[in-house]
Amino acid sequence: LYVIHIAAEMAPVAKVGGLGDVISGLSKALQKKGHLVEIILPKYDCMQYDRIGDLRALDVVIESYFDGQLFKNKIWVGTVEGLPVYFIEPHHPGKFFWRGDYYGAHDDFRRFSYFSRAALEFLLQAGKKPDIIHCHDWQTAFIAPLYWDVYAPKGLNSARICFTCHNFEYQGTAGASELEACGLDSHQLNRPDRMQDNSAHNRVNSVKGAVVYSNIVTTVSPTYAQEVRTAEGGKGLHSTLSTHSKKFIGILNGIDTDIWNPATDPFLQVQYNANDLQGKSENKEALRRNLGLSSADVRRPLVGCITRLVPQKGVHLIRHAIYLTLELGGQFVLLGSSPVPHIQREFEGIANHFQNHDHIRLILKYDESLSHAIYAASDMFIIPSIFEPCGLTQMISMRYGAIPIARKTGGLNDSVFDVDDDTIPSQFRNGFTFLNADEKGINDALVRAINLFTNDPKSWKQLVQKDMNIDFSWDSSAAQYEELYSKSVTRGRATKR
Ligand code: ADP
Ligand code: GLC
Repeated sequence: LYVIHIAAEMAPVAKVGGLGDVISGLSKALQKKGHLVEIILPKYDCMQYDRIGDLRALDVVIESYFDGQLFKNKIWVGTVEGLPVYFIEPHHPGKFFWRGDYYGAHDDFRRFSYFSRAALEFLLQAGKKPDIIHCHDWQTAFIAPLYWDVYAPKGLNSARICFTCHNFEYQGTAGASELEACGLDSHQLNRPDRMQDNSAHNRVNSVKGAVVYSNIVTTVSPTYAQEVRTAEGGKGLHSTLSTHSKKFIGILNGIDTDIWNPATDPFLQVQYNANDLQGKSENKEALRRNLGLSSADVRRPLVGCITRLVPQKGVHLIRHAIYLTLELGGQFVLLGSSPVPHIQREFEGIANHFQNHDHIRLILKYDESLSHAIYAASDMFIIPSIFEPCGLTQMISMRYGAIPIARKTGGLNDSVFDVDDDTIPSQFRNGFTFLNADEKGINDALVRAINLFTNDPKSWKQLVQKDMNIDFSWDSSAAQYEELYSKSVTRGRATKR
């Protein structure tokens, strides 16, 4: 199959969170299975250009429509993680991708609807004939209606459209007339069975549009796929998802096991594997030294947390866990940053309070290499999310032998199974879970984890080795996508005949 992903992120060149990991991980896995995979991204000014191989501008200029005019786009091509990637650079006075950041601008709806249209224009003019166009999240959700309403009539019609929603909290809504800028007909689309937002009649919702218009709709875990079908979890889209439930499925993400591999990870002080855990202790030692934490007691448990600090991640429970870990005699390292000013300020306050403390460190920024060092150094890892579509940090932490302590929600519920839960076959039990999003819930799980670590080192070591050997690779999830794509392509051919 010929698959083109169109997205706003791709690790490691343009990554904000898990979406970036998924675009490179899934693409690599599909490529390994023999498919032709290409990716289209905006050409952001703030990308990690040193991670792009052979970047060069193509000899063509693509003109795409916006606000009733045509604008020129330069197209760049390069290699990321062995994958061919096209970068679209708009020559538009709005300087859409010259903002020093990926998201959070007042005109994000315009920036990404522009990008979606320009990406399809590029496919049309370059004569590309993909079998699957796979778009992700609200930023590229415009692709689905644009493809069927505008581009298929122009002859770009070889593909089936797959849309993956990584988080239904972000739906890309705007006043209906804003759709006109990228050439979508707002009168046609501002209808309850199309793109009209389910709670505001004069607004459109790009994720709803993609759910309605795509051939395949997925989200990133089976449990989350169930949760968003309920009024409580669907953030206003549950009825739409129910109407389209035949094409909607949850597939658990994998992780890129080449990048996330403690046996080869170049960011680590010492590489290690499940049969040789001495290296893990050395990484713990090195992190403590680098962050100025006390190394006096080798057996003092180190609790890690790496996350975007947004309400979804249970920030109040993270804060509580910092103090509780201290009370229980552990050390705590948090790496995270927040797009929400009052949350960032609050954690800066905590970081300052503990800046010379022997056992707590908060590092409030995005730092890829430090993230690897923390996964390797941690004995346990907390993820107390209020909701979590999939979550990758529980899988990464297990691969590095840091035992997850996670709330039972979304993808965490599909990947972390409590060591004390007799209803689950013992071979699957791999961490500590709790159900209620309150202090009592996380207390119970953290106390159990620290007790096992302190009182039963032998069982702890077995658990670490077991978790490090779990297969979290993309193989089986990519096979599920492959099957969905193939069935859809076959169905598409049948309808055309
Ligand atoms: P989400 O996409 O909701 O942020 P995921 O668990 O799916 O959550 O993915 C988070 C990804 O981002 C992981 O690869 C994690 O290691 C990484 N990450 C999160 N915060 C930081 C940070 N401050 N520095 C480096 N990496 C981070
Ligand atoms: C979103 C979700 C996260 C998921 C990631 C990748 O950011 O919040 O749970 O793991 O996308 O699919």
